[in-house]
Amino acid sequence: MGRRVLKNRACGSIDVPWQRLDLDRHGRTLLNGQKPCVVWFTGLSAAGKSTIASLLERRLYAVRCHTYLLDGDNVRNGLNRDLGFTAPDRVENIRRLAEVARLMVDAGLIVLVAAISPFRVDRRAAREQMPAGEFFEVFVDAPLAVAEARDPKGLYRKARRGELPNFTGIDSPYEAPEMPDVRIDTVALSAEQAAQRVFDHLQGAGVLPA
Ligand SMILES: Nc1ncnc2c1ncn2[C@@H]1O[C@H](COP(=O)(O)OP(=O)(O)OP(=O)(O)O)[C@@H](O)[C@H]1O
Ligand SMILES: [Mg+2]
Repeated sequence: MGRRVLKNRACGSIDVPWQRLDLDRHGRTLLNGQKPCVVWFTGLSAAGKSTIASLLERRLYAVRCHTYLLDGDNVRNGLNRDLGFTAPDRVENIRRLAEVARLMVDAGLIVLVAAISPFRVDRRAAREQMPAGEFFEVFVDAPLAVAEARDPKGLYRKARRGELPNFTGIDSPYEAPEMPDVRIDTVALSAEQAAQRVFDHLQGAGVLPA
């Protein structure tokens, strides 16, 4: 990483230099033969991101891949518990998820991120901080009516009653990916078929151990 100096807005005029470490990502990767990367699931609430990402993680485990599933809901209970659902908070939510994912990739993991991540610009920023070919955007596509009919957490019902302001798809926008690496039509595919589709894509991209 050289001696790059990072912009840390909170530090004012004090430059925080990058500390170079002896063991780099390449070294860590040699241990297990997989290619660390980010697999980013985006889509409406109830589209199936967590369900499909979980199934995918089990499949990856079965072929001895080291993974971590960063689920937006879980991260909101810890690292991001100070954030709500306003537009600036959503931006910060995704920025932190992307930063944590990048650190985990540095540690040699295949990182699955399951988060609505409604804004294109934030997903692009998440992609741009990764080297080319190490970020896969998976669009978990379910029409609003389908997601709303599933509503496993009762969130759409609450949002329709006005109890959840800024709910994606209701009174906050969702910007669908224009060129996702994988698009999953969850009306046509079961969750298991969807997980297999993403697995096949990762295999084709040379991410999995030989
Ligand atoms: N083809 C499908 N793919 C994925 N999930 C499906 C499919 N068909 C039905 N479902 C159901 O839809 C629901 C999707 O819920 P899930 O929690 O995975 O959504 P999510 O995208 O993670 O939502 P949130 O953003 O609120 O966390 C589950 O109850 C799942 O069983
Ligand atoms: Mg989820």
